[in-house]
Amino acid sequence: MNILHISAECYPVAKVGGLADVVGALPKYQQALNIDSNVVMPFYNNKFSNNNEFEEVYKNTLVLGEQVHGFRILKLTNHSLGFNLFCVDVPKLLFTEYVYSFDDTERFLAFQIATLDWVLTLENKPDLIHTHDHHTGLIPFMISESLKYKSLKTTPTVLTIHNAQYQGWFSHDKISLIPAFNTNKIGLLDWDGAINPLASAIKCAWKVTTVSPSYMEELKQNANGLENLLKHEAAKCIGILNGIDWNVWNSETDNYLIKNYSKTTRVEGRKANKKWLCEKFNLDKNKPLFAFIGRLVGEKGADLFPEIFKKALEENDISILLLGSGNKETEEELKKLLETKNYNAYIGYDERLSHIIYAGADFLLMPSRVEPCGLNQMYALRYGTVPVVNAIGGLKDTVIDIENRGFGICHNKVSVADVTNSIQRATSFYKNTKKFLNNSKKIMTIDHSWDNSAQEYINVYKSLKK
Ligand code: ADP
Ligand code: GLC
Repeated sequence: MNILHISAECYPVAKVGGLADVVGALPKYQQALNIDSNVVMPFYNNKFSNNNEFEEVYKNTLVLGEQVHGFRILKLTNHSLGFNLFCVDVPKLLFTEYVYSFDDTERFLAFQIATLDWVLTLENKPDLIHTHDHHTGLIPFMISESLKYKSLKTTPTVLTIHNAQYQGWFSHDKISLIPAFNTNKIGLLDWDGAINPLASAIKCAWKVTTVSPSYMEELKQNANGLENLLKHEAAKCIGILNGIDWNVWNSETDNYLIKNYSKTTRVEGRKANKKWLCEKFNLDKNKPLFAFIGRLVGEKGADLFPEIFKKALEENDISILLLGSGNKETEEELKKLLETKNYNAYIGYDERLSHIIYAGADFLLMPSRVEPCGLNQMYALRYGTVPVVNAIGGLKDTVIDIENRGFGICHNKVSVADVTNSIQRATSFYKNTKKFLNNSKKIMTIDHSWDNSAQEYINVYKSLKK
């Protein structure tokens, strides 16, 4: 079976968040299960594109409304990723240093059109097309309704929703950017008066998955306006928990770490990583270290961080370290807080630092209001760091509270009081050194590898086989 994943991000080629981690790992694990699973994504102007060799496998022009753009399909020549990587080069629109921008409607439409124009010409066509999030959400519609892709109509499509908060809305004024289709079918593109690529994919894909079972249930109550659509399409929807890439996230071999460690050498290894972090960020290595890594947006509870951190530092003998970027107001407030003792922050993106934090922090804070799956808590567990989470979505499916014979700290609401109360409970837990250190061994053994979930996706593909 031959599967083509279509995505805006893929680790290590281009990453903004967890979408990249999933698309960089899932195909590799599917290949190991004898499924020929490959990826197509935009060709961005970044370190990966500039440091690797690509060969041109196809070249043509594409039509985007009244514009005509030249494009190429480039194939990565080395096999380092564990699957074939194809990149769509539309120089005027996609070859940028960033992944997302203000003109994403045009950029990702050009990406999707170029991809399908190329797929049309392939001798060995994919048996199934797997799209991810709204950036590739018009593919199922175009395959089933655009006249020029008629010959692909019987190719099954799967949509994975990584985050329903973002839907890629655009106005009907731009309808002519979509390759010609029977206008009776316009309803398949529309939701609430706008063209909605995510809603369209939910309507048109043969199967819809999301990244945890709990998030699938939550979407029926809270999906940024798509609740009724998801209820209506429930029969073709399923939640499959993400895995993590054990080749990348392995504390014994991770090159980013200051010191590698196994379950048996974890105490020394984790101490060395914590020492490095505390020296670099001027924190006391004898206090429990709470960390946050991620996008500074409302979904992650980031607007509450300044207040949470102030209160938690006043009430507890702890240190806090934050790595993230996003909302500019939150960034400014977090910078102002830098004068506070026992707190530090790196406002920006740093892959290496994130690995050292997973290995060296004692607790990882995730007070998310929305968390479709969340990978950070699984990386933390794998490296022996205790997650402190709001129990929703994938966090609910992966973290059990210590009070319920579990291994993490959970709260059920996102407020300053709830989160600081959890930090207090975590601090007490830390003081019981024996229990705390035994717990770090226990969490390192929890199996969140991709093996099971990669197979679940394959079962979905097989159920759709023509
Ligand atoms: P989301 O995709 O919603 O941002 P996930 O938990 O699924 O959340 O994945 C986030 C991924 O991005 C993780 O691999 C995390 O380590 C990484 N990440 C987020 N922000 C940063 C940052 N500022 N620096 C380094 N890595 C980051
Ligand atoms: C999204 C979600 C996150 C999930 C990731 C990978 O970005 O916000 O919860 O882990 O996708 O599926």
